[in-house]
Order: sequence, then structure tokens, then C-alpha cells
Amino acid sequence: MSSLLSDRPTRRGLFLDTLNGTTPARPPMWLMRQAGRYLPEYREIRAEAASFLDFCYTPERAAEATLQPIERFGFDAAILFSDILVVPDALGQGVRFAEGEGPRLDPVISSDDLSILKPRIDLDHLAPVFETVRIVRAALADDKALIGFCGAPWTVATYMIAGRGTPDQKPARMFAYREPRAMQALIDRLVEASVDYLVAQFEAGVDCVQIFDSWAGVLPKPEFDRWCLKPAQAIVEKVRARVPGAPIIGFPRGASTELTEFARLTGVNAVGVDTAVDMAAAAASVPAGVAVQGNLDPFALIAGGETLDRAVDYILASAKGRPHIFNLGHGILPETPIEHVERLVERVRG
Ligand code: CP3
Repeated sequence: MSSLLSDRPTRRGLFLDTLNGTTPARPPMWLMRQAGRYLPEYREIRAEAASFLDFCYTPERAAEATLQPIERFGFDAAILFSDILVVPDALGQGVRFAEGEGPRLDPVISSDDLSILKPRIDLDHLAPVFETVRIVRAALADDKALIGFCGAPWTVATYMIAGRGTPDQKPARMFAYREPRAMQALIDRLVEASVDYLVAQFEAGVDCVQIFDSWAGVLPKPEFDRWCLKPAQAIVEKVRARVPGAPIIGFPRGASTELTEFARLTGVNAVGVDTAVDMAAAAASVPAGVAVQGNLDPFALIAGGETLDRAVDYILASAKGRPHIFNLGHGILPETPIEHVERLVERVRG
């Protein structure tokens, strides 16, 4: 085990204390996709980048984007500015972000295509991401946490197989039914890549990581267990074997009735609760030592006013007395008014 990791600073603060199972007087807060297009200062530096991936791979710029929402709103945690698709990029698949169109990859449509992938993730290719982590961690106050992340294998695979975002993830779902062995090989490769990538983020200085499984909700239970639950268990176990006690948040979006089992069986420190789950139900059924994170509807944040206040109060009341990290139920949308985020912060801080 690397001495670097056992010597990790034991940083404190509302966010990390909550991940360790305590219940502070007010919940810590951050927002998924908090660095992004709803911020004028983000749009300004984004406009100077040749492409979105270029932006992600320019440490000074990515660090600035990471810190912008902390400077503006004083959130309790910063999330590394990068993207889940840097993993297929570092496996050699070739990822592009076409302006205004979203991601494009060379699709993996048969088991033969898997041979174009590198056997292991090329961490040298991601050196700029780790440099971003070092810059941000050095600039952040000690009581603010830095969150690293990766996409969960299933969600990353949906983009790798389709070569783009899809409304129903049909290409990956059909691939998994028709070529389960090739799918298993791809998922296994992504588990190993994710572990190497997350451990390298911890080495560079992140305090915690989140695993985003944005498309977990489309799978029937046996497929959910095979492609979402088991890979998450493997990642948690393998990361903790190399980073003892690593704090990990799992976000199986759409897991619905499987959320509690996911929290129990993966051993994560917190589970992301999506917008469609009742926070009161999640707070009661997720094991008491596992924090719940969420789950304000991003559309309620766009609506603002009393609609927003009522939604926030319900979430706060529902999760009162147990570990809770205030967040959205999915990423913040570009059209969100800044004043509504300010109102939200005031309401949560009380
Ligand atoms: O602020 C943060 O949360 C940190 C950075 C972050 C981004 N993407 C930046 C980004 C994080 C954590 C992500 C995660 C991500 N990326 C997910 C999982 C979370 C989720 O929202 O479900 C997924 C599925 C992706 C893949 C992805 N990245 C897509 C489909 C797109 C295009 C759609 C879009 O929103 O534009 C992106 C681009 C992207 N990633 C942007 C940002 C700020 C917008 C691109 C730009 O500014 O040009």
C-alpha cells in the first residue's frame, strides 16, 4: 500500500463528518453539475476553450471552473471539473464533444470492437485531471471537501456502445441481452479502469468520490444486479483495498425500490436519492449509518419562489435527525436563475 495514501490528511468539515455518519445541525450542501453553464463566469472561460475536452484537460482552467461555485455560493464541497467520458477516452476509444450536440464516440457494436480498447486505462493521458485536483485542493479551505468522480460502468458503457447519448439506452440494453459475455468483458474492463482512476484521484488529493450511474433506472432487477449493483460493490471494495476508509458516494439514478439494497450491499458512505424518490421514504429505509444525498427537483430550482421553498422544507424535514447531504436529485440545468440558487442556499443554511 502506498504510504502516500495511508498518510492522507484527516480533513474535517460538515461534508466529510456527514459522510462519516454524524448529523450536524444543518446539512452540508453542494449541487450536482454545480460548475457549468448556468454561471456567467463559467460561460466566459468556456468560450475560450477549443473544445469541452480541451477545457477538461487544461488544469488551470478546469481548476478555475471547479472553484467558481464555491467562491460564489460557499458550498461545502467542490466537485472536480471533468467528465465521466474521459475514461473511454483514456481507454483509447476516442471521444469528441461536438459543439451543441453532446458526446460522440466510435461505437462498440460487437465483441470484436472491444479489442480496440487498451487493456488498462492510460493514467498518463489523464495527468491533467490529476494536476487539476492538486491545484484545487491547494486552493480550497480546509473545511471544504473536494469530490472526485467517475461514471459507473453501466452508464459509461451506454455511451461507449451507442457512440452518443440516447433517449432510452437501447443499444447498450440490446447488446447486454444479445452479447452478455462481451458486455461482461466491457463492464469488467470498466470496473478496473474506474478503480485505477479513482485511486489516482485520491492520490492527487480528492477527499471523497462519487460514482454516477445516471442510467441505472432503465434495467429490470436481474440486469440491475448484474450491471449496476455488482460492479459498484467491486469498485467500492477494490478502491478501499488501496485507499483504506475511502469515502464513497453511490448514485444509482432511478434505482427506485432497489436504492436501499444498493446502500446496504455496496457499503457506500452515502447514496444519491433522485428526484422521483420520496426523501421521507429514503431517509427511513436507507441504513442509519449511510447518508442520504439529495433530492431537490432541478425544475423546482428553475421555478423558484414558494414552490422552491416548499420543496426545500419538505426535504429538510424528511431527512432531519439522520446524516443528510443537501443536493439536487439530478444535475442543475443551464437555464437555472442564479438568484434561485442564492435563495436555496439561504433556505438550507437557515
Ligand atoms: O459540476 C460538476 O458536476 C462537475 C463536472 C461534471 C460534468 N459532467 C461537466 C460537464 C460531471 C460530474 C459530469 C458527469 C456526467 N457527464 C454525467 C453523469 C451525471 C449526469 O448528469 O447524469 C454524464 C452522463 C456525463 C456525460 C455528458 N457530459 C453529456 C451527456 C454531456 C452533454 C450534455 C450536456 O449537458 O451538455 C456532457 C457535457 C458536460 N459535462 C458539460 C459539463 C459542464 C457541458 C458541456 C459544455 O460546457 O460545453
